[in-house]
Amino acid sequence: MSDGRLRLGILGSGKGSNFVAIADAIRAGSVDAEVALVLSDVSDAGILGHARASGIPARHVAPGRFRTKLDEESESAVIGSLREAGVGLVVLAGFMRILKGEFLRAFDGRVMNIHPSLLPAFPGLEAWRQALDYGAKVAGCTVHLVDQGIDTGPILAQRAVPVLDGDDAATLHARIQGAERELYPAVVGAWARGEIRVRGRMTSGFREG
Ligand code: GAR
Repeated sequence: MSDGRLRLGILGSGKGSNFVAIADAIRAGSVDAEVALVLSDVSDAGILGHARASGIPARHVAPGRFRTKLDEESESAVIGSLREAGVGLVVLAGFMRILKGEFLRAFDGRVMNIHPSLLPAFPGLEAWRQALDYGAKVAGCTVHLVDQGIDTGPILAQRAVPVLDGDDAATLHARIQGAERELYPAVVGAWARGEIRVRGRMTSGFREG
């Protein structure tokens, strides 16, 4: 099953542009990893279509009875699928449900997320809209490890983008997503090369560019 490369399990609920960026970087040779499995809580999510189009195993997992998290049965199914696929790093790419407890214990310190703000500013939903409404002049994205809180885990890397006069939520989100598509593959690549160190909240080893 494995050629020794890091195996990624990618979870997403949306269109999948971050997944596509990571898959492209793998294909281009800048990320030494393999996407073992893509899972989504949304049956018609673009991310599943993109994965299937590239021949990557992709599955819908019914999330169960809650709106903001997976129920126990669904969480166990996700953990089982990721383990079966030999996943060494879980990459959240627009996954819109909170993962806690059992999931984080199963993949302790090995769950990465990208959030569309410069954390700790604007955690939660539609962070780009929060930044715009607040009147921020700088926005951006953050790659971090996932802990029990919401968007609170150790920060691995951040990329800033300006908020321009005349921006609306769509233009700002598009600019942030442009930054995400560069930053996320770069961080996953550094992780795969074993360059990133984590000591509590303190992380090191990722260098831009
Ligand atoms: C990304 O902008 C990501 O930062 C955001 O969802 C989008 C998914 O886009 N994630 C969150 O807001 C998580 N709190 P994609 O499906 O095109 O990768």
